[in-house]
Amino acid sequence: MKDHNWWRQAAVYQIYPRSFADSNGDGLGDIRGITGKVSYLKSLGIDAVWLSPFYPSALADGGYDVDDYRNVDPKLGTLEDFDEMTAALHDAGIKLIVDIVPNHSSNRHKWFKEALASPKGSAARDRYIFRDGLGENGELPPSDWVSVFGGPTWERITEPDGSPGQWYFHIFAKEQPDFNWDNLEVRADFLKTLRFWSDRGVDGFRIDVAHALTKDLEGALPTRAELEAKGADAEGFLDGSHPYWDRNEVHEIYAQWRKLFNEYNPPRTAVAEAWVHTDRRPRYASPEGLGQAFNFDLLQADFDAAQFRTIITKNLAEAAASGASSTWVFSNHDVVRHATRYGLTAATPAGEGEIMAGLAGKEWLLDGGRREDVNAELGLRRARAASLLMFALPGSAYLYQGEELGLQEVGNEIPDSERQDPAFYRNKGVEIGRDGCRVPLPWTTEGSSFGFGDGGAHLPQPEWFAAYAADSQAGIHGSTLELYRAALRLRRELQAVEELEWIETGNPKVLHFNRPGGWQSITNFGDTPVDLPPGVVLVSSAPLEHGKLPGNSTVWVR
Ligand code: NOJ
Repeated sequence: MKDHNWWRQAAVYQIYPRSFADSNGDGLGDIRGITGKVSYLKSLGIDAVWLSPFYPSALADGGYDVDDYRNVDPKLGTLEDFDEMTAALHDAGIKLIVDIVPNHSSNRHKWFKEALASPKGSAARDRYIFRDGLGENGELPPSDWVSVFGGPTWERITEPDGSPGQWYFHIFAKEQPDFNWDNLEVRADFLKTLRFWSDRGVDGFRIDVAHALTKDLEGALPTRAELEAKGADAEGFLDGSHPYWDRNEVHEIYAQWRKLFNEYNPPRTAVAEAWVHTDRRPRYASPEGLGQAFNFDLLQADFDAAQFRTIITKNLAEAAASGASSTWVFSNHDVVRHATRYGLTAATPAGEGEIMAGLAGKEWLLDGGRREDVNAELGLRRARAASLLMFALPGSAYLYQGEELGLQEVGNEIPDSERQDPAFYRNKGVEIGRDGCRVPLPWTTEGSSFGFGDGGAHLPQPEWFAAYAADSQAGIHGSTLELYRAALRLRRELQAVEELEWIETGNPKVLHFNRPGGWQSITNFGDTPVDLPPGVVLVSSAPLEHGKLPGNSTVWVR
């Protein structure tokens, strides 16, 4: 009998493939690079890998602009390489989750090219969202909406006869045209894609912008001001009536996908990336739908005991109500690494004052990502405490490559000329974008691109990366890598029922909870050392001070 519930309390490691390991020295990470690191992943103690897009792509958005959903980018390898990697992971007892990007394709997808070459009103255009423009000659976009990366959500095309033509809709970059999910061919094609990868042995899927697929873009469209007056933000409306975010009909699609997932043994899993109002998140996580949804609440919280406790309590209750298990995440390829976020304070670099992690580091990016504003030591200390707390929680923990090394975000050291993120280009002079968490990993202190590969790195690595290299931490007691290894090993051994009991400490800066039948976790969010309960110390994120738990640290006790 295969374990149908393997995902419920899994530790899932996100690989951003172009920045993980480069096997052929072209400066870009690849599939064989991952296969070569399977023993590292096994020794880390993770249960699954989530692989960000590896499909053919012009990289207008880091691979989230997909040319062909059922292939591997030739720069990253072949389908055979993919199969070899999957087999190596499975041999090591590690499951594989791949990213599916169903809201939009790239503008190089064969269907989009066909749409551009076909006339207005054709079946080929109906797979995407084409509209006539406003104004006398259709010269104005159908609405004044702004795309996620800045600039308009509509792009005008030139018709096959050379005349100025219709406009197509794109929530993200203009190289990412949105699909029309009312079109049955689109629906059928994604079922084919899900089957293609499931048949190849993929264990689950991460669904990109799961809350955006269905839309109501017929007739006269509301203006941006009208939407804002109704309280719109990127999360949509509580009643599901926003024209493109979080509409209720999207769940019909996932109900159909669920039927397909359940044809497999064990059923394929899915996790929704859905930045929706927390009250609407359980719909995405329901067992009749995708089964699990990312909870980004801790990622957006400050390093603050009260905020953490409220979030944990609410999410565990929500997960229980939906039948899912909760998810926890501090870092991914879209946000400032948490070791840096937690080092951003109002009075940097001393580390005094209010912590400004709230918007996942966005203020810092908007401010130019100045390294002098980061107290890296404090940030790492808090990040280690937060991660150890996360590993003690019931539910699945999602880690992002490099966080096990305590890696910091690269800020303004990436020259503008080398930036890749469309958020930087579409929003010129406003934000520096997400490249800083996507810089290739340092594996060794010495050597070309710190062991990433033999041919440099596609985003420049700063000199200080050497201090975080995996080889300098392996086997070193107290290193972040060894902390993660120890915590993940213990977590596997100790995890039992998906329950948590709070223990009242009387200290508003301390969170203490018990995992029934397992162990207790205590986090000191303050600066003054606190007493520990009696018991054996299993692991701690910082050395104890005279038997006490120092500030900004976590310990597990049994
Ligand atoms: C969410 C992904 O995580 C992000 O990296 C990407 O830019 C957008 N979706 C668009 O696909």
